Amino acid sequence: MDACVRDIGTLLTMDRPGDSEGIRDAAVLIRQGRIAWAGPARDLDPASVRGLPTVSAEGGLVTPGLVECHTHLVFAGNRAGEFEDRLSGRSYEEIAQAGGGILATVRATRQASDDELLRLAEERARDFLEQGVTTLEVKSGYGLDLEQELRLLRVIGRLGQRVPVTVVPTFLGAHAIPPEGRGDRAAWVRDLRDRWVPAVARQGIARFCDVFCESMAFLVGEAEEILQAGLQHGLRPKIHADQLSDCGGSALAARVGAVSADHLDRAPESSFPALARAGTVAVLLPGCMAALGRRDFPDARPLRRAGVRVALSTDFNPGTSPTRNLPLMGTFGMAWCGLTLWETWAALTIWAAAALGMEGEVGRVAPGMAADLVAFRGEDPRGPFYEYGTSRVSWVMRGGRLAFRRDAREGAGAPESPAVGRGEGDG
Ligand code: NIG
Ligand code: FE
Repeated sequence: MDACVRDIGTLLTMDRPGDSEGIRDAAVLIRQGRIAWAGPARDLDPASVRGLPTVSAEGGLVTPGLVECHTHLVFAGNRAGEFEDRLSGRSYEEIAQAGGGILATVRATRQASDDELLRLAEERARDFLEQGVTTLEVKSGYGLDLEQELRLLRVIGRLGQRVPVTVVPTFLGAHAIPPEGRGDRAAWVRDLRDRWVPAVARQGIARFCDVFCESMAFLVGEAEEILQAGLQHGLRPKIHADQLSDCGGSALAARVGAVSADHLDRAPESSFPALARAGTVAVLLPGCMAALGRRDFPDARPLRRAGVRVALSTDFNPGTSPTRNLPLMGTFGMAWCGLTLWETWAALTIWAAAALGMEGEVGRVAPGMAADLVAFRGEDPRGPFYEYGTSRVSWVMRGGRLAFRRDAREGAGAPESPAVGRGEGDG
């Protein structure tokens, strides 16, 4: 797909560390679905754009397509009742102990057909797309037996064919230990390590192996066995680390060279230099605060001081974070996690891409990168976070094709036909 994006009020390429001013009056040239050139419109060679379809950003802000690097998108049912229960003082852990929590979603998910799971997942993935997301990581983890986990990973694979979003699959068989595994934990972990991980790797349906490392889930030694098995089979490690307690998850992330360590709400600062040395990205998930009724937002500043790259994500899941609004996590990142404006954009683009090992493919507007772009109403790079909660997205492009476009509002004085090519998805 070849095209030229014009009328860009401000272009944030994320290619210049610390620059949140961006390039004013910019243009982007796209060849075969990749960025061929980006810069001030006045430097564009007229001969190079002759005959190319034009996409107008209508004077707005254009950024790299957003990268959502941590979701639990495939599940059935909902847990609104637990959300309300927590208001009366029941904790996430208590609800889980009583058979609710992750296991409640596992029961609903096991009963749903593949087509029903796919339908739900597709609707949710489109919600993400409309918020500017062009790369979407999706974890399994609500099957909790090998056949069910493989089924969820197959649904994730089909999802990537159905929506114009780049879907990145993660195996999270180690999300919780179901009742049938609690009698003999060691045997359950061995089974995950010796049978589930190799089976998933053999089928080539996951890129990463993730573990929920927590006193209520997998202890650090158990998590290490599973992640090491993943590594041996070519699945790179990711970890849900130190969310509810300091249980050694962040230190483990550095030890196994995890591509990301996620949550880190209770992680000790002493583990941060090792994370920096390992190149592990810290993924902060401030959306969990609202659903859990907590106010102690994860702090990005000590991580940044230690030289750790920080990404932001919704952690979309039915228990601790039911939101699909990734830009809103940017608002939380700035307001409550202590990120600067540039760091916040990085946390949703290049650093989130690094949390998926994809920094060479997505997350920047530079020659050779995928032509994944978002246009926002208004040219101010602060706008999408400042005007939080309301979508400012006018269109989303994935691989050089328009994947979503917000319709011009009737009677809002919008031109008859906005100067934007026809939207076309991939599937
Ligand atoms: O990332 N922490 C573990 N997993 C999810 C919650 C899953 C659930 O409650 O269903 C999380 O917060
Ligand atoms: Fe999670």
